[in-house]
Amino acid sequence: NTPLRNRAAAKGLIYGAATQTSILRSDTKFATRFAQECAMLVPENELKWKMLRPSLNSFDFTRSDWLANFASKNNMFFRGHTLVWHKSLPEWFKARVNSQNAEQIMLKHITTVVKHYAGKIHSWDVVNEAVFPEHGRADYLRNTPWLKFLGPNYIDFAFRVAAQADPKALLVYNDYGLEHSTPNDEAKRTAVLKLLERLKSKGTPVQALGIQAHLEGEAPFNTKKLRAFLKDVADMGLKIMITELDVADNMLPKNVLVRDRLIAGIYEDFLSVVLDEKAVIAVLTWGLSDRYTWLRDRKSRKDSASVRPLPLNAHMERKLAWYAIARAFDKA
Ligand code: G3I
Repeated sequence: NTPLRNRAAAKGLIYGAATQTSILRSDTKFATRFAQECAMLVPENELKWKMLRPSLNSFDFTRSDWLANFASKNNMFFRGHTLVWHKSLPEWFKARVNSQNAEQIMLKHITTVVKHYAGKIHSWDVVNEAVFPEHGRADYLRNTPWLKFLGPNYIDFAFRVAAQADPKALLVYNDYGLEHSTPNDEAKRTAVLKLLERLKSKGTPVQALGIQAHLEGEAPFNTKKLRAFLKDVADMGLKIMITELDVADNMLPKNVLVRDRLIAGIYEDFLSVVLDEKAVIAVLTWGLSDRYTWLRDRKSRKDSASVRPLPLNAHMERKLAWYAIARAFDKA
């Protein structure tokens, strides 16, 4: 009956999840279960530019402060997602940001936001999803407004500014598509290692890799390659966080028992590899209950059955996935 947060803590690990202000405020049953199971809270959207920056010259911390306060009241770590990303930018961004002012605007954003939570935050996803080999660049970087305005060093700049604003927070590079054995994921692992090596060699203060781990129910992952990748990252002196774990079940059979077994098996296989690596410090799921998941809209099922990617079902009860995570922590 022991909650995930206690099982993880017993092994020196952190278990937590992402959620949203509006969900915690409106659903007290969910909020209670969230506080029971999680030792870390990640704002799913509230720290993105779109929600934080109503205009070029203003910041609105109302929603993220509410979450920080909920975390602190419930004895949870608070984690920042994300300072620099190409998505969820505000409407005004396109018209107001250009190569002349981009550096100044990034500097002000990171400094203001990171200082606001300094001393209250465990870690920051400083840069999110900057690597995309499909864009065909020699350095594998994604074509984003930040790259266009500032060049490849925007990544180093962001980390240096964050480190100055809060020397204590753990600074993370976060990305997806690193888990499976597909050619795309293979290329992405190589590209992310190359980026991290370049950052480290220049003394850029990146301290951890965030592996999102949005797993696909039907895609295999190669245990050996995943293990080797984790070791390569650890050998660079970096910590590792599993930052957005869930299992998409849109391609899995409809039968709930069959489906839940498959999903739980993927959680357990993945975590048994991941938790073997001593550099891993935290496992966070992207949501806690199937009632609230981005996959409902983004990877819905053709048969219109509801998706079941998370540890708790829509009634806040533990599923096989929950027991799989629990076992993985117990064995770690
Ligand atoms: O809050 C507004 C609401 O006022 C409005 O009426 C409604 C109409 O569309 O939109 C609401 O905002 C949505 C927001 O989620 C809150 O639900 C945005 O449209 C929607 O784009 C946003 O999606 C989020 C997405 O990132 C884009 O920022 C998802 O919730 C969130 O789970 C997802 O998370 C990302 C991570 O940040 C990075 N890694 C991948 C992961 C999954 O895509």
